[in-house]
Amino acid sequence: MENNTYETILKRRTIRAFKQTPIPKKAIDMALNAARLAPSAANYQFLEYLVIDDKSLQDKIFPNLRWAGYVKPKRDPGPNQRPRLYIAVLSNSQKSPKCNPRDIGAAVENLTLTFLSFGIGCCWVVAFEEDVIRQIFGIADYYMVDSIIAVGYPDESPILETDSENIKYWLDENNQLHVPKRPLSDIVHLNKIKD
Ligand SMILES: Cc1cc2nc3c(=O)[nH]c(=O)nc-3n(C[C@H](O)[C@H](O)[C@H](O)COP(=O)(O)O)c2cc1C
Repeated sequence: MENNTYETILKRRTIRAFKQTPIPKKAIDMALNAARLAPSAANYQFLEYLVIDDKSLQDKIFPNLRWAGYVKPKRDPGPNQRPRLYIAVLSNSQKSPKCNPRDIGAAVENLTLTFLSFGIGCCWVVAFEEDVIRQIFGIADYYMVDSIIAVGYPDESPILETDSENIKYWLDENNQLHVPKRPLSDIVHLNKIKD
């Protein structure tokens, strides 16, 4: 049974090494539009997106991001493998009484899967120096900077593994990243919760 959405989901892996090929504006616009159309609790739609394609601003952002904690520092993007674009996901407290994190999950997944449908990879980064990022852009108090999405054409091909025990991604002798996921049999319950 052919299903493009499912195929894209299967292909998606976090990417932390990027080719320097420019990203087409059309892909950026469509990814942002996909985020805009994500489900939203009570439809508050409090998320906004700061798109950063300026190289000098990108150079300021990069040192404030933390990459791949389990294999640190081996998956920090090298000088020629840095993201080509960043999208900061902002939560505007003036648009909603609370920031429902489910909205962010839905929007970011729409965004990243749309990028991937164009062959473009992403790393969803929440480990960053928020104070510094706020300062760089002069971000007002009523915004929370939730995430920074690093975007670019993949220059690595992480491998999906199935593993009940180990949750830590790891690098092999060829510097290829392996990403374990728990098997379905561990996480799906039929009619009752099994032990
Ligand atoms: C909410 C969230 C925050 C994340 N933050 C970071 C981060 O700060 N730095 C990083 O390198 N990866 C980050 N990741 C990527 C995860 O490490 C990655 O999703 C996980 O290892 C599984 O790999 P996969 O995305 O290829 O399935 C984050 C992912 C999510 C969902």
